[in-house]
Amino acid sequence: MEVVIVPDARTGGELIAAAIGRLLSHKPDALLGVATGSSPLPIYEALTAKVRAGEADPSRARICQLDEYVGLPPGHPESYRSVVLREVVEPLGLTESSFMGPDGSAEDIEGACAAYDRALGEAGGVDLQLLGIGTDGHIGFNEPCSSLASRTRIKTLTEQTRVDNARFFDNDIDQVPHHVITQGIGTILEARHLVLLATGEGKAEAVAQTVEGPVAALVPASALQLHPHATVVVDEAAASKLKLADYFRATYAAKPAWQGL
Ligand code: GLP
Repeated sequence: MEVVIVPDARTGGELIAAAIGRLLSHKPDALLGVATGSSPLPIYEALTAKVRAGEADPSRARICQLDEYVGLPPGHPESYRSVVLREVVEPLGLTESSFMGPDGSAEDIEGACAAYDRALGEAGGVDLQLLGIGTDGHIGFNEPCSSLASRTRIKTLTEQTRVDNARFFDNDIDQVPHHVITQGIGTILEARHLVLLATGEGKAEAVAQTVEGPVAALVPASALQLHPHATVVVDEAAASKLKLADYFRATYAAKPAWQGL
């Protein structure tokens, strides 16, 4: 696992946006997996700035969703479909036709999960999957004790995640759905490159367990250790519990420029 410690979230966003720009220059129709939450926002801002400056061309890119709430009415502003359209698809000048995600309002949720998992494969697989991390170490909505081989499926949120996400629902936990669809950990691990961005002290413990702890279902993000090309970008606060922080800094500083992120 490659660990990159950056001074702040903005720098992390710029670094990752540059990697996406390079991906698009050699694969213009790349399938980019995006995450929701506040952590990836600096990536989308930096990428949008690059596009506006003519430094990246996403016009043929395809965007896919990591997870979704179950049961929100279609078009609900906090459904992840709405969030991704608002924060990623529209700012990049793309349309819904370049976008794919699971249907959280389907009558047959299990069928919708299987269909989405299949669709990702049929689309050629995800080239670069962006990830955030929950305070309990979840990725997507794979809560602790998710199978490390899991596929896209319905999950029940922990109380902690519902508390964390209540800020998007008028700080009212009762409005936060109990159920979600998420790409499974096995599904996520099929992406060609995984890039996790974590910022702030609240993520420090989860980051330390992800990077330096054992691979364990209790910390779903630790499954990134099994991936041949996983990059974890953290600010100083999120890196504060890493025992090997100095080693990671030295490794990144000594990296040849051509190697990129
Ligand atoms: C939600 C999302 C995750 C995200 C997490 C952390 O649970 N399903 O994909 O990583 O929130 O969000 P934030 O970055 O806002 O802390």
